Amino acid sequence: MKQTLNSSQQPTIAVIGCGYVGLTTAALFAACGLKVYAVEINPERLKAIQSGRSFFYEAGIQQLLKAGLDNGTLVPTSDYELAIPPADFVISCVGTPDNDDGSANLSYVFGAAEQAARLMKSGAVYVQKSTVPVGTGAAVQSTLTGIPNPISYVSNPEFLRESSAINDALWPDRVVTGGTDIAAADAVLNLYRHIERNRDKLATLCELVPPKTTPDIRYVTTSLASAELIKVSSNAFLALKISFANSIAKLADQAGADVTEVMAVVGGDSRIGKEFLNAGRGYGGGCFPKDVSGLIRSAEDHGVDMEIMRAVEAVNESMPHYAINKAMLAHGSSLAGSRIAVLGLAFKAGTSDTRRSPGITIANTLQSMGATVKAYDPQAMDESDELHSHIVRSASLEEAVQEAEIVFVTTDWPHFQNRDLYQLAHAHGVGLVVDCMNCLNPDDWNNGVRYIGIGR
Ligand code: UGA
Repeated sequence: MKQTLNSSQQPTIAVIGCGYVGLTTAALFAACGLKVYAVEINPERLKAIQSGRSFFYEAGIQQLLKAGLDNGTLVPTSDYELAIPPADFVISCVGTPDNDDGSANLSYVFGAAEQAARLMKSGAVYVQKSTVPVGTGAAVQSTLTGIPNPISYVSNPEFLRESSAINDALWPDRVVTGGTDIAAADAVLNLYRHIERNRDKLATLCELVPPKTTPDIRYVTTSLASAELIKVSSNAFLALKISFANSIAKLADQAGADVTEVMAVVGGDSRIGKEFLNAGRGYGGGCFPKDVSGLIRSAEDHGVDMEIMRAVEAVNESMPHYAINKAMLAHGSSLAGSRIAVLGLAFKAGTSDTRRSPGITIANTLQSMGATVKAYDPQAMDESDELHSHIVRSASLEEAVQEAEIVFVTTDWPHFQNRDLYQLAHAHGVGLVVDCMNCLNPDDWNNGVRYIGIGR
């Protein structure tokens, strides 16, 4: 039986770039019953999508893809000529990798806009979902003057987190659009009401549990520049909270306090909030590191010294080394020659993504220091190309832990937090557990296995 969720006449969408954001967006709208052309130029990724497989791990994405493909609403293609002309909305989700100086590389952003705009029908809306520095929209708009058909440009930043992307899309705190054409910005907001209307069915399809309290979705339209700045400011502020917690963690280590106790109470102040105050090996992933450095460079272009964000970046970069130094002190000597297991290569739990993963930095640094390193992750082994070749890639938790003298927990996978790790560490005579995520209970560790966390 086809899983059509919404059968009335609907707008047609083309999504350009099927990475984490693009594929999630395309699959969600298609599962709502909207016709979505998902444009992907990487042949391997396209083949995977066409056969109903996501190239990354994300809870619910496979079910959405299957629903869209079965319905015939999701059309994966590499062909702009097929996808763009019928689209009422063209949503750009192309990558914005960082340049060597930390600034955002916008060649895909401009390239996609130029390629699509000449094929777009009159009155269609070009929606920018890629995270771009403030001012990019105005620059893209000016390159689009002179194309045959008049089209509108709308910024529509996304706030999805990897590992809870579909939950975040079904129950967002806010949906933001910005542009000079207010009607077009409103039309883009209205697109998201399809997701809100269908969310119970989508949640059932994806086997997702609704949050305990359902947020009142705020649909917000701002100026183009504000919408762009909202996105990077949100990520920068979250990164700032993490680096703040990590600075306090360093002090807690010196002063004999426990940063997890401190932040639990500090975050209990509703003006501050509990989220993103977990100290540890620092933030990674495809967003925070890039967005923080991008904000610093973009501010420089506007003559503004973003000194607070430079400090955020410096604290973050210090954290993997800080964790290793703590382990060295606890071990009582250099780690050269030690047998070490590094558990967690994904940049956070719930994803297979290893971009800028602190776990990989820690594993590689330990190996460069002369340690014998085994690494393991329940989802990210296939994406861990950046691991040094001398590091042994373990097939299981047990294989990684056996023979290890020291275990570093670098991703807070639930798998590492249950009794398995505790039992394995005891069974195999591990001497030291370094909890780089503060995700284990220190009181659980005794009888011969020493525990250290970050700031506790
Ligand atoms: C982040 C934002 O949270 C999303 O709102 C945004 O849409 C997304 O970037 C984006 O720009 O596309 P994401 O990178 O998927 O999402 O991951 P987060 O859950 O924010 O975690 C980022 C990093 O911070 C991870 O390495 C995580 O382990 C670390 N972290 C997070 C901490 O070290 N401490 C914390 O308290 C929270």
